[in-house]
Amino acid sequence: MNFQLKSMLKFLIYMHILGTLDCARLLGIFPMPGRSHYLLAEKMMKGLAVAGYDVTFITPYKTKDVPQNVSFTDIVIEGVADTYNKKLAEIDLYVDSNRNSYQKMVSYTELFIDWINKTLHHPKVRALMQPGNKFDAVLMEQFFDDALKYFAHHFKCPLILTTSAGPLWFTSTMVGQPSPPSYVPHVYFNGQVLEGMSFFQRMSNLYSYIVHYAFDYWHLIPLQDKVLHEAFPDAPYVTDLNNYTAIVLSSSHLSILDPMPLVPNLVEVGGYHIDAPKKLPQDMQQFLDNATEGVIYFSMGTNIKSKDMPEEKKLALLNAFSRLKQKVLWKFEEENMIKIPKNMLIKNWMPQRDILAHPNVKLFITHGGFLSTTETIFHGKPVLVIPVFADQFLNADRAVQKGYGLKLPYDDPNFNEETIFKLLKELLDNPKYMDNAQLRSRIFHDRPLKPMEAVVYWVNYTLRYHGAKHLMVAGANQPFYQYLMLDVVAFHVAVAWLGLYLLKLTITKLGDTRKTKIKIH
Ligand SMILES: *[C@@H]1O[C@H](CO)[C@@H](O)[C@H](O)[C@H]1NC(C)=O
Ligand SMILES: *[C@@H]1O[C@H](CO)[C@@H](O)[C@H](O)[C@H]1NC(C)=O
Ligand SMILES: *[C@@H]1O[C@H](CO)[C@@H](O)[C@H](O)[C@H]1NC(C)=O
Ligand SMILES: *[C@@H]1O[C@H](CO)[C@@H](O)[C@H](O)[C@H]1NC(C)=O
Ligand SMILES: *[C@@H]1O[C@H](CO)[C@@H](O)[C@H](O)[C@H]1NC(C)=O
Repeated sequence: MNFQLKSMLKFLIYMHILGTLDCARLLGIFPMPGRSHYLLAEKMMKGLAVAGYDVTFITPYKTKDVPQNVSFTDIVIEGVADTYNKKLAEIDLYVDSNRNSYQKMVSYTELFIDWINKTLHHPKVRALMQPGNKFDAVLMEQFFDDALKYFAHHFKCPLILTTSAGPLWFTSTMVGQPSPPSYVPHVYFNGQVLEGMSFFQRMSNLYSYIVHYAFDYWHLIPLQDKVLHEAFPDAPYVTDLNNYTAIVLSSSHLSILDPMPLVPNLVEVGGYHIDAPKKLPQDMQQFLDNATEGVIYFSMGTNIKSKDMPEEKKLALLNAFSRLKQKVLWKFEEENMIKIPKNMLIKNWMPQRDILAHPNVKLFITHGGFLSTTETIFHGKPVLVIPVFADQFLNADRAVQKGYGLKLPYDDPNFNEETIFKLLKELLDNPKYMDNAQLRSRIFHDRPLKPMEAVVYWVNYTLRYHGAKHLMVAGANQPFYQYLMLDVVAFHVAVAWLGLYLLKLTITKLGDTRKTKIKIH
């Protein structure tokens, strides 16, 4: 009887698991309106829906082109995109590169609180939280938004974190991913790291980590706690919410970054956002097809507007381009710029991934954003990087180091026609850059699972093992003084100090007895 009951129960549990696996429900919380963050989130959630998951997507933009016959619901957090774009328009990123990283982080978090708070209070989000409504996993990008981890706590389900620029330190710590400051550059570290780090570079890199730690501890975490507890007074503290973290899907790959040790639950899925190339608009297609001498594609990304460039920089670029036999496609917001050289086509929007796929594209001039870097490596195109802010300097250094690009920082005093022309000639005439770009591309594509297949595989894996706690290294839950062995070091310093003290005491004592002996004789 007892036995029968047990096996019956087992059967029921088994059926239940099968049932939930069949159409597991995923909640993707991605209210961050930054274009590249949104693109990555949207592609991931659509890909998971196509793979058969029931997807609910919290987003700043209405989803376009939802795949057919899938279970996909989006909840738009209205207004956050407008606020973000207005604020972003006020910050001149070209000038912003002069502020220090702590100031930048503080000003960005004030901006970020807007969509975190709006998500926590949104009526449709609140409606999801009705008793009885279940999700099997929560997905979100760890990006100064720890308060949103509360949803994993509410639904008592695993938390799947994503990153949009590789294993960034603040995500890495959630799964105990080591980031030794001796060779893993912090994203705010602006030095060159071409041949390993020198003493001073390592010191400066360490300071970047310490500044970030201090920023988290004194600014970010208290702010997240405040916003979360305003919305949900009974919520745990955000640092406790990290318990729910199961896995990190990092939008990176060995071919883009440098090799580094990876813990089992930080998996690299970089490139999943790149679809098979689509047909280009007719004018672009013709422009590219006709370009027998090759085409240079030039875009400074979505956040940095080319029209904010000072006139002399624009002229320097235009003059350098007009001296080349190659054609130039420039993504530029002023389509009607005066004095456009004959070999140029200017558009305020370009389908970048489809353009890079064209065989006549010989060079990509880029700001070096992480997605652009990924896309250029995917298609094996050399780069001239004009870094402006954040991780773009690092990405520029890597392109130089790996031999598939050259760099010219935006505020370089030698940013003039002659320099630009010389760099472009070198990149176009020396086959080494194209060879190395193609090599990177082969490394990029040489993996057992295609990037989107890997996303689906690891989400499924996480659900199969109910959060896959067996992947988590013990270091993830250690306090930092234990992780860094600071207590053991302190113990040894104390013992050494005590030893020296005792030695000194003995020597003085000995000296004293000798003195007294001498006196007696
Ligand atoms: C997840 O894995 C289960 C069994 O391991 C399989 O039956 C199911 O089809 C998978 N689901 C997806 C969406 O891949
Ligand atoms: C979607 O489902 C309908 C009805 O089942 C079917 O007729 C249609 O072909 C499907 N479309 C796709 C793209 O699978
Ligand atoms: C968050 O939103 C609520 C409700 O809209 C508002 O009362 C509160 O002041 C906001 N908090 C912050 C920090 O913006
Ligand atoms: C997270 O784990 C810690 C240590 O095991 C525990 O004290 C804390 O209550 C947990 N928090 C939550 C929200 O589960
Ligand atoms: C490209 O070549 C085709 C045929 O040779 C020609 O009709 C067309 O005008 C050319 N387009 C451009 C943009 O030069």
